Amino acid sequence: MQLKQIPFPFAPPQEAKAKPFLKWAGGKGQLLPQIGQHLPTGLWEGSLTKYAEPFIGGGAVFFQIANSFNVREFFISDMNEDLVLAYRTISQQVELLIERLQTIELLYHGLNADGRRGFFYDTRDQFNQGRTLSLALAPEDETERVARLIFLNRTCFNGLYRVNSRGDFNVPHGKYRNPRICDATNLRSVSRSLQNAEIRFGDFTACRDFVDENTFVYLDPPYRPISRTANFNSYFKEAFGDEEQKRLAHFYHELGNAGAKLMLSNSDPHNENPDDSFFQDLYAGFSIHKVSASRRINSNGAKRGPITELLISNY
Ligand SMILES: C[S@@+](CC[C@H](N)C(=O)[O-])C[C@H]1O[C@@H](n2cnc3c(N)ncnc32)[C@H](O)[C@@H]1O
Repeated sequence: MQLKQIPFPFAPPQEAKAKPFLKWAGGKGQLLPQIGQHLPTGLWEGSLTKYAEPFIGGGAVFFQIANSFNVREFFISDMNEDLVLAYRTISQQVELLIERLQTIELLYHGLNADGRRGFFYDTRDQFNQGRTLSLALAPEDETERVARLIFLNRTCFNGLYRVNSRGDFNVPHGKYRNPRICDATNLRSVSRSLQNAEIRFGDFTACRDFVDENTFVYLDPPYRPISRTANFNSYFKEAFGDEEQKRLAHFYHELGNAGAKLMLSNSDPHNENPDDSFFQDLYAGFSIHKVSASRRINSNGAKRGPITELLISNY
């Protein structure tokens, strides 16, 4: 249908549009045009008034949907506690968070190279030692922790979130000349976007009770690694293996039976092995679109370049 062809971004510019406040492994910023072309028409027609994203990560798709459509209720969740805490804090305590980030930014920019390095590693230690976190705590007690998370994300090497097997954030210091640590305008826009959102910590099945026939659900699980050397799951200390992919496919069927419109993305095993029919088998009967994406397959530069990813929809 013609409406489906309108790509992101298509909303008229009004106030500043919210965008991801963290750089996140597997972020979908680059894939937004392709995703935009495969959205369900009910978003334009107004029949889809609810949106759920149970692997929210950096939220690139959520922000686009919130910026572009007249969706009234949102549900976002993730299994990463610090990430969920960040969304909650921005939703409820954005001004306090901005104050803390401005203080950090002023301090950090005033330091020389050695000073910055020391400040980064001190902050990283404090962040790792402070992991007694409880999501039941009032968000104002945790703005400091969220400020540290954003600072580390902005100043670490490659600007990513990655933890080791003990759950410690272990990315080294990056050497950016003038990293933007406090983007107050965007944080306020993010906060506005979150006002109609239920923000939950938990497994992807946590959205079950929210989802109905008026809901569009976008599912972006950790990728099934497309080569033995690639390790795209390192931002989360527990692997999302084939058994988890199967459990997710089962849940996808369940949500489809509830009448929801669904889109799921994953890596395309055919990039490496044309005989691997893992997703074709799991999602037989659904629409499987191959879209081209440019991301790093492994650390070997020669193997970087355009590859395909899968978008699987039930409409
Ligand atoms: C590919 S990332 C999502 C990226 C996101 N679409 C973006 O644009 O940034 C996958 C996310 O799933 C989360 N995750 C891993 N296992 C999960 C589970 N069982 N239930 C819910 N979330 C999970 C990870 O913490 C990670 O944030």
